[in-house]
Amino acid sequence: MANASSQTIDLNVVREMMSHITYADHQEAQELILFALQEINEHFGWVSLEAAEIVAEHLGTTVNRVYALLTFYADFRTAPRGDNFMLVCHGMSCYVAGSMRLVQSLKDRHGVTDGETTADGSLTIQVVDGCLGVCDRAPLVKLNQDFHGQLTVDSLNQLLEQVSAVRTAGGFR
Ligand code: FES
Repeated sequence: MANASSQTIDLNVVREMMSHITYADHQEAQELILFALQEINEHFGWVSLEAAEIVAEHLGTTVNRVYALLTFYADFRTAPRGDNFMLVCHGMSCYVAGSMRLVQSLKDRHGVTDGETTADGSLTIQVVDGCLGVCDRAPLVKLNQDFHGQLTVDSLNQLLEQVSAVRTAGGFR
């Protein structure tokens, strides 16, 4: 996957990706819209309107139809992620262990809820209802590539302060 913090999408790359998506007829093309969007979202971390236009053109449909699908499914992002991306597990074990307090703290202290990015662009969070697979460390988050478990509101805030310090020092990009 490309750098998740990419702020722009290289449309030439999108065109190249589309060139590998072939179809026999209009019906098949319609069925490939979601696949095309998934490919772009996976590669860049989000899908811009310009990228959606290329999908529409390639698959012979309207931008409105592509954008409707793009905004309907929660897995797709229509804005770039922040410099850091954090999954907050809200599966059953994490919920029982207090993940709601972490979510509330993120909202109160950092002004972000599910799918949002902090005002300074340093962090995007996504709250995941499914289990992230390491329940023995609940409640936990996955910040970029690393899991951080047995979190309290305080330890989560300490973690985010470290992220902020690294960013100030020029890291993560
Ligand atoms: S419920 Fe959070 S890791 Fe399993």
